[in-house]
Amino acid sequence: MNPERIQFQKYEDKVISAHQAAAFFKDKMVVGSSGFTKAGDSKAVLPAFALRAEHEDIGITLITGASLGHTTDADLARTNALYKRMPFQVDPVMRGKINNGEILFIDQHLSETAELLENKHLAQLDFAIIEATYIDTNGHIIPTTSVGNSATFAHLANKIIIEINTSIPFEFKGIHDIFIPTHYPNRDVINITASDDRIGSDVIRIDPDKVVGIVFTEIPDSPAQTTAPDAKTTAIANHLLAFFEKEIQSGRLTKSLMPLQAGIGKVANAVLSGLAKGDFENLVMYSEVLQDSTFELMDTGKMTFASASSITVSESCYQHLLNNFDQYKDKIVLRPQNISNSAEVIRRLGIIGINTAIEFDIYGNVNSTHISGTKMMNGIGGSGDFARNAYLSIFVTQSASKDGNAISHVLPMVSHTDHTEHDVDILVTEQGLADLRGLAPRERAKVIIENCAHPEYREQLQDYYNRASERGGHTPHILEEAFNFHTRYLETGTMKQNCLATYEG
Ligand code: COA
Repeated sequence: MNPERIQFQKYEDKVISAHQAAAFFKDKMVVGSSGFTKAGDSKAVLPAFALRAEHEDIGITLITGASLGHTTDADLARTNALYKRMPFQVDPVMRGKINNGEILFIDQHLSETAELLENKHLAQLDFAIIEATYIDTNGHIIPTTSVGNSATFAHLANKIIIEINTSIPFEFKGIHDIFIPTHYPNRDVINITASDDRIGSDVIRIDPDKVVGIVFTEIPDSPAQTTAPDAKTTAIANHLLAFFEKEIQSGRLTKSLMPLQAGIGKVANAVLSGLAKGDFENLVMYSEVLQDSTFELMDTGKMTFASASSITVSESCYQHLLNNFDQYKDKIVLRPQNISNSAEVIRRLGIIGINTAIEFDIYGNVNSTHISGTKMMNGIGGSGDFARNAYLSIFVTQSASKDGNAISHVLPMVSHTDHTEHDVDILVTEQGLADLRGLAPRERAKVIIENCAHPEYREQLQDYYNRASERGGHTPHILEEAFNFHTRYLETGTMKQNCLATYEG
């Protein structure tokens, strides 16, 4: 017993080992676990369950906030510990098992899981595993570096296992804002009118009788991989920054822009870092993940507040944050992901959403999830929550990739659609930016091909569009050719037409 970390007398005899906790699970049980983009995940019980599954034929449905850290998703996948997984993952081993059908995966908007659970559209949760900084005198949980779906899991699960992480300082109490919307048909407004509004409690309230075990860990979150900006990400960031400058000149935006959301990854980080150099002030974020660039912007004084569902940063940023937490504590809030990604709040605040695409087409449809239309990459994450409701919905990607630019990321038709043309305002590649606002499909095709496509693919795309438009249609297509870029790549290793001839020759 650690009286500072467990301040509730009734839990005195609840401390157990991770292996004892993992032994509670039975085949086909449904387990909800904390963890959102590697932050605040289970670092003891889920890994112990993966070990157990090495010697036992057992599989659970695992629901989390988003991806898990360390090698947990890989270990669970490798030992066949999972029957079903939702709503998001980023792990190569798990990806492989999902794509060969060994793990069933539900790729879900991140705002939706809690709603579906609360409204009983999904199976009853048998267990919740929640990482905690400590347990207060009422038996309630102070979360750690993420909130994700933890409040809903704790609210709905039959039983709760708490993982106390002693590496998280007590000062984390106060940065969380836990709010569970009222049930239908009496749903009230989610009353957030500014990024720094607080509407809930700073603890996850639980029924103490549901707690069946408390496990201690001291393992920190696994760090985010940071990649230094390269020529492509810098070019994308520069196009976007120039666009923001123009919007300011035209009077549509001020130097504070609008609250920002940025997907994780090198492009988003490069764009946000770029804001530090530009003439911007009093920026705020209303996003799902706080990353290194958020804290860099705060250090420069350009960002005043950031709201999200998790803190996912590099190792050095993590250490800096833990050591200087007082500096940032009143500038951040972590919310449940159905609140950070709430359609209602995103629309009200007028978010600028910046997300990454795998590919987009000449009309502005975006694929964020499937390689060649069939293979799951990571999942839609929160990109759909933001894209559909944003004030400005921006998607970025490189125009081409692989040796010899074998893959064009601008295509006649996307092989899978996550974000339709109706939800997309701005597309950016290192080649340039296409502003699609107010453009009809035929106008869109022109600016997308001219501004975003790689020069080695422009002619090919233009030729497709010209021949398609001769056939007529509001959105011209030649259906028997629409996926030729993809099929050519699969057959020949490149999307380039002239190489097809060489290859076949
Ligand atoms: N066939 C084969 N491979 C293809 C392909 C195709 N048709 N189209 C793209 N690819 C490959 C690329 O070549 C690249 O491979 P590489 O990594 O070996 O170079 C890979 O797919 C995509 O990588 P990249 O372009 O570097 O993308 P990224 O690492 O920036 O990630 C997403 C892009 C879309 C996968 C990622 O942002 C994501 O998962 N988004 C959805 C979730 C989300 O947006 N969340 C937002 C809130 S956090």
